[in-house]
Amino acid sequence: MSNPNSPSAQDQFANKANAWSARFSEPVSDLVKRYTASVNFDKRMARFDVQGSLAHAEMLAAAGVISAADREAIERGMERILQEIEEDLFTWSLDLEDVHLNIEKRLVELVGDAGKRLHTGRSRNDQVATDIRLWLRNEIDIAIELLQQLRAALARLALEHADTIMPGFTHLQVAQPVTFGHHLLAYAEMFSRDAERLADCRKRVNRLPLGAAALAGTSFPIDRERVARTLGFDGVCRNSLDAVSDRDFAIEFCAAAALIMTHISRLSEELVLWMSPRVGFIDLADRFCTGSSIMPQKKNPDVPELARGKTGRVNGHLIALLTLMKGQPLAYNKDNQEDKEGLFDSADTVRDTLTIFVDMIPGIQVKPKAMREAALQGYATATDLADYLVKKGLPFRDAHEIVAHAVLECEKRGCDLADLSLAELQAFHASIEADIHDVLTLEGSVAARNHIGGTAPARVREEAQRILAESPAA
Ligand code: ARG
Repeated sequence: MSNPNSPSAQDQFANKANAWSARFSEPVSDLVKRYTASVNFDKRMARFDVQGSLAHAEMLAAAGVISAADREAIERGMERILQEIEEDLFTWSLDLEDVHLNIEKRLVELVGDAGKRLHTGRSRNDQVATDIRLWLRNEIDIAIELLQQLRAALARLALEHADTIMPGFTHLQVAQPVTFGHHLLAYAEMFSRDAERLADCRKRVNRLPLGAAALAGTSFPIDRERVARTLGFDGVCRNSLDAVSDRDFAIEFCAAAALIMTHISRLSEELVLWMSPRVGFIDLADRFCTGSSIMPQKKNPDVPELARGKTGRVNGHLIALLTLMKGQPLAYNKDNQEDKEGLFDSADTVRDTLTIFVDMIPGIQVKPKAMREAALQGYATATDLADYLVKKGLPFRDAHEIVAHAVLECEKRGCDLADLSLAELQAFHASIEADIHDVLTLEGSVAARNHIGGTAPARVREEAQRILAESPAA
């Protein structure tokens, strides 16, 4: 092994006007340095940068491009580097632009020429694309796991409230009674599709760019399949120009993240609404709320409000990345350095939000009495009366009209449909019989919707149990 302190080991990065070559005669200004550097945010990919480098070195050695001794030196150096990073002893330098050059320079400091050989047959262009994919794959796996935990939390609460009746709304007007469990499971479905979307996105993330080098591939006898296997990729990117330049996989993730947050935001809006004293359907645990500095009576649902608000930035990152990509000619352009902060922030926001919701959902205090009272206002069983008449042989449109008259009458009297006597109901249609009162109750209404996807308590229990059975977190 060469002496790491020899001049040859030092000169490449020493005393840099620029980290990359002797070709430049004047240094960039401090502002340009800051403007073009990414190390402050891409250093979080360090672990994956090292992982990619080790796989690359292993392949280079197997192909006889570097010696076994060089490979060992690289491994030793990288181990030390990882340790330094972990212990916060690593010195990150803006002069070295990004995570890749920072780590490479330290490697050369530690192991000399072997470190300089690592970059054989590789470019930062395929390196960064590989790092992002490794980093993102890990984030996807975490997000999928959190989505499953959230679904399980919703299913457990749904099971508890399979019989709890609340008004179902359309246009935010009381429409038909539903069970609270059924309402919760609607979100479990949304999060199930979100997890599917991430799993699908993962397939396209999990391809190896390394080997594409700067853009055209490399003249060294590399074994890309070998590197792919080492890094757990499902295969290699099949065109070098595409491999280093497109970020569609990151855009897909941002789209999936935007949908996750959109679903979270809808749920948040309901939690806020339900917690309003005017509605009073639920209470959230104190640890997710804050008070007011001036109004002592206030308990504000800060967490769902913030989650609703953070949806905006995640949606924004999707548009930013789409816009970043749209004007770029092949192959790599520096524009792509701008892919990271939005991507990182989307993943962080989704991760934090899901983690908090997994904890918040089980702590929801449900108030069945307020839900029931609300369901009793607004003629929620009017459709049931119409369906009843249809079962007696009336065409649905006629039944609809008859019930509209009954509702009008109730409005005049200030009562509910169920408060009308049999004789009063029969005045609207002679086919109405004594069994009508079972139909007009909230329990009768929900129990009647007993099919796959319906709100009947039996179905809700079934669905909740299905979700819990398939959830590893159950
Ligand atoms: N920091 C760069 C990025 O994030 C790495 C690739 C730079 N490649 C280059 N030729 N300037 O995209």
